Amino acid sequence: MVKLTIDGMRIRALEGATVLEAAQEMGIVIPTLCHHPGLSPYGACRVCIVEVGKGDRRSLEASCTLPVEHGQVILTNSEKVRKQRKLIVELLIASCPNSKTLQDMAANMGINRIRFRIRDRGCILCGLCVRYCKEQMKSGGIGFTGRGTTRMVATAFEVTPEECRNCGGCEWICPVCERACTAGNLIDGLCGGCQNLAPVETCPVCTGCSESVGPHGYKVY
Ligand code: FES
Repeated sequence: MVKLTIDGMRIRALEGATVLEAAQEMGIVIPTLCHHPGLSPYGACRVCIVEVGKGDRRSLEASCTLPVEHGQVILTNSEKVRKQRKLIVELLIASCPNSKTLQDMAANMGINRIRFRIRDRGCILCGLCVRYCKEQMKSGGIGFTGRGTTRMVATAFEVTPEECRNCGGCEWICPVCERACTAGNLIDGLCGGCQNLAPVETCPVCTGCSESVGPHGYKVY
């Protein structure tokens, strides 16, 4: 067993577990997008970042790919983490403004405007569809092509490959096309239908607490 501290709690985690898994085991909610428990970790979206301290060193790391280590001190919701997470979600929304998952996440984090130019690419390159196709369906019909700004998910030669079983799993697992935001108008990059005005989700950890924002970053009503 590995001994570490998460949000002030001293815990023991299984050797080989990730910080995300150890935190979830303790009931601590860390937002994720590219993580799925049935697929290999990929560490693409970075919304699961946590602050990691070991000795004198402090850094921000993606918790879904970070293995637990003896003596780690993890903060899942420090000011630094919240600030960086907001920036990441803003960047993701700038490339996928119609994703309800992302818009809900922005509302939960108290983001009230997107500071980046909106360029709807319809994909956040989280790789869930690619991993699902390869690891669960054993198909590998889709993959990444291109580099940098031209990187995208595609089939070879843009034709439906023989390996594709039309299972629809790639769409089902996609955090962007799974639920499209239908409100239409974007205001400062945010969905005009729910622009941080209505509660989306209450904090599962501190429901009933009187603070307006719980320690886990969720709005509490
Ligand atoms: S959930 Fe960890 S990087 Fe995406």
